[in-house]
Amino acid sequence: MKVRKAVIPAAGYGTRFLPATKSQPKEMLPIIDKPTIQWIVEEAVESGIEEILIITNHQKSSIENHFDRSLELEYFLESKNKYEDLELVRSISNLANIYSVRQKEQKGLGHAILCAKTFIGNEPFAILLGDDIVVNQKVPAIKQLCQVFNEVNSSVVGVQEVPKTDVSKYGIVKPINNINKSKRFSEIVDMIEKPSLAEAPSRLAVLGRYVLTPEIFPLLETQTPGSGGEIQLTDAIRRLLDTQKVYAYNFEGHRYDVGNKLGYLEATVDFALAREDLKDEFMELLKKKVNISVRETIK
Ligand code: G1P
Repeated sequence: MKVRKAVIPAAGYGTRFLPATKSQPKEMLPIIDKPTIQWIVEEAVESGIEEILIITNHQKSSIENHFDRSLELEYFLESKNKYEDLELVRSISNLANIYSVRQKEQKGLGHAILCAKTFIGNEPFAILLGDDIVVNQKVPAIKQLCQVFNEVNSSVVGVQEVPKTDVSKYGIVKPINNINKSKRFSEIVDMIEKPSLAEAPSRLAVLGRYVLTPEIFPLLETQTPGSGGEIQLTDAIRRLLDTQKVYAYNFEGHRYDVGNKLGYLEATVDFALAREDLKDEFMELLKKKVNISVRETIK
């Protein structure tokens, strides 16, 4: 069955970016000039997803507005003959069918996904987390997962290897077989949310991309709080393993953790260097800055 729907949870407080996120959603913080959530929506659209549900809260109406039409702005741009900007603004509202639902209490990622139950109904669906931007010019990360889903007809979680020091930040999977380069996926037998290094069954971390079967919803409904006192998606997927196969797929692409300040800066630098209109001047600027700091260190 084709994966047509995606869920993007965006109801968190974004405390790591305070004070910027005091009154604006972290998902609206731009990488250069595009909000992070638009990068995520574009990945879903380029992967063939037709309907997207964004899980928001009462402070996140700017996300809903961003994907809606802005007739006043369009009128203004047209009256100033700014047709390129007009096209840009209009294209955002035409990206896909985008819906939103509010998570009324912040009870964790699993609880946020449960808010999508009615929207998803009885079909497989994709999840893209807003803190993880993945760049792959050929096949977007979630499309890679959809392709594996079509092959195995079971839930797939997207993983990449992380350093030992980072395993306690993620959901970590235990694959049956080694995930090697030629066969990039394996069935998993266990999955643990934010384990200590001693508990971690591997260094393969779930990095914000999932394709799940709808059987996850009854499990989320009965899921008790886990790590951090929150209802964890990882814990529900772990219970799904009792009745269905779940696969880990080592997706290809560079992943930026834009929920983290350094990851956000890295994405900003790399995306600027990839932009025709910015790269030359920006590179000169970076070289100057690096030379200055090297000279200062030598002094
Ligand atoms: C969430 C998930 C975790 C996953 C991570 C990826 O954690 O619970 O399993 O590995 O996203 O970014 P969070 O970063 O929201 O604490």
